[in-house]
Amino acid sequence: MPKKLSTPLIIVNFKTYLEATGKKAVELAKKAEKVSLETGVSIGVAPQFTDIAAVASATDTPVFAQHVDPIAPGSYTGHVLADAVKEAGAVGTLINHSERRLKLSDIDAIIRVACEKNLVSVVCANNQTVSAAAAALNPDAISIEPPELIGTGIAVSRAKPEVVLDTVKLVREINQKVTVLCGAGISRGEDVAAALRLGAQGVLVASGVVKAKDPYRVLREFAEAAKIQEKQSLEG
Ligand code: G3P
Repeated sequence: MPKKLSTPLIIVNFKTYLEATGKKAVELAKKAEKVSLETGVSIGVAPQFTDIAAVASATDTPVFAQHVDPIAPGSYTGHVLADAVKEAGAVGTLINHSERRLKLSDIDAIIRVACEKNLVSVVCANNQTVSAAAAALNPDAISIEPPELIGTGIAVSRAKPEVVLDTVKLVREINQKVTVLCGAGISRGEDVAAALRLGAQGVLVASGVVKAKDPYRVLREFAEAAKIQEKQSLEG
């Protein structure tokens, strides 16, 4: 992971929410930057492609693309080139999000392209088995996200702790290096603390922050909870 990214890591996925589109994407990224500076917790954002450059130039927040295509430069109309998101200021990319599912061979190809372009690869997985398969492809990070909990406000770390526990166990049997995150329904600081207690090294969040009345306050709560849990884990 580049130095701007450390664990515990919070990544806010802006998806295509209007609350995080255009100027509002920059505003939300600035809030993430403020929380990260105030708490020392690493926070990244994943805006839409059209907002990557504006967000990256307006803040020091690590920016992730929500996807890149397994292509080389050339005649690929309508695709997203890794070189392009890199030049726009992205430090990494999500891969295989439940809302942008890919076949295994494409996930492998994108991880390789991301590595070549020095982009952090965060592979999203819908269950423990897919997480284990993804771990064998050697991405920088894996985020386990049960699709049925996405957008519900029912946190995976509270409603399905065994999914996080089993993912960490299965992934570690295959890959000791990969960072393991979890997401889906994370909406309170306690959800973040629970995720870390289960062995995740951070969270991938969206609606709990993007659609909050006060995204700054929610992100601050997430970061404080991560910091406290990390300290408690270190103290044993
Ligand atoms: O990428 C993370 C996202 O899918 C989780 O969504 O709204 O449940 O935080 P949400």
